[in-house]
Amino acid sequence: MKLSAILSPLSDLRGGLTLVLLPFLSALLKHPSLIFHPSKISDLFFSLLWIPYGDGVDGNAKSSKEDLIPPYAYGVVLDIGAGHGHTLDYLDHPRITKFIALEPNERMHARIISRAAKYGYTKAKGNFDIILYGAEEIDKIITQIGGEHSIDTLITILTLCSIPSPQKTINSLVNRTLKPAGGQILFYEHVRSHLRDVSFWQAFWTPVWKRFFGGCRLDQPSHIWIEQSTEWDWSEGHSRMWVKEGEPEEHLFWHRVGRLVRK
Ligand SMILES: C[S@@+](CC[C@H](N)C(=O)[O-])C[C@H]1O[C@@H](n2cnc3c(N)ncnc32)[C@H](O)[C@@H]1O
Repeated sequence: MKLSAILSPLSDLRGGLTLVLLPFLSALLKHPSLIFHPSKISDLFFSLLWIPYGDGVDGNAKSSKEDLIPPYAYGVVLDIGAGHGHTLDYLDHPRITKFIALEPNERMHARIISRAAKYGYTKAKGNFDIILYGAEEIDKIITQIGGEHSIDTLITILTLCSIPSPQKTINSLVNRTLKPAGGQILFYEHVRSHLRDVSFWQAFWTPVWKRFFGGCRLDQPSHIWIEQSTEWDWSEGHSRMWVKEGEPEEHLFWHRVGRLVRK
C-alpha cells in the first residue's frame, strides 16, 4: 500500500481539527458544564465538523447517490443518521409519501428541518418526522414510525460505521421496519476492505479516528452484515451491490453501494 494512502487519515484529522477547533473551544467556554458530558461534547464536535465537511463528503458521493437514490427511493423513507439532511437533495419527490429523518444528534436537527421544508416536507403536512433516537433504539423507533413493517425505503449513507452493536442493529432495522414484498434498503457506506493490508491499516486507525469522527469505525463489513441481515430472502432480480466508480481498491475509505429488496 502507498504511504500516502496509509497516512491519509492524518491529513483529514488535521484538516478537521483546524476547521473546528476555534468554534468548538468557544462553544465550550460558553457552556463549560459540557465537559462533564462526554457524549454531548462528541455531538457538539461532530455537528461543528459536519458544517464544513458535510457538503464536501456529499459532493464526493454525488454520482453514487445519483445512481442509488432517485431511481429507487419511494413511499415512506426512513433515513438513518440523517446528518444535515443531504439525502433530501436526491429524492424524486413526487414518489415520496413521507420522509422520516432519524438523527440522535439534536444539534443537527435545525438543518434537517429547514432542508426538508425547502422540499415541502413538514410535520404540519404529515409528510415529515424527525426522530431523536439512535438506530439501536429499535422499539422506540418502531413506536414513532407507526408500527412494524411500515417503511418502504430505508436509507443509510455513511452511518452504519458509527452505530453501536451494528450487526444486531442492522438485523433489527431490516427485519422490523421494512414492508414485505418490495421494502428495500439503499446504502452507501465505507466498509472493511477485502485486501489484507488495507484492512490492517483500517483497524490501525480506527481507535484514533472514532474519537474525533463521532464513533466512526473504518473496519466494519457493513455491506456483508446488510446482505446477511434478512430473515427472508432478498429479491435476486432487484437486488444489487456495487463498488464506487473510479475508487482505487487501496483506499482506507473503501465504499460499497447497494440496493437490497425484500422478496
Ligand atoms: C458521517 S455522518 C452522515 C450523515 C448523512 N447520512 C450524510 O450522508 O450526510 C453520520 C451520521 O450518523 C449519526 N449517528 C451517529 N450515531 C448514530 C446512531 N447510533 N444511530 C443513528 N445515527 C447515528 C451522526 O450523528 C451523523 O449525523
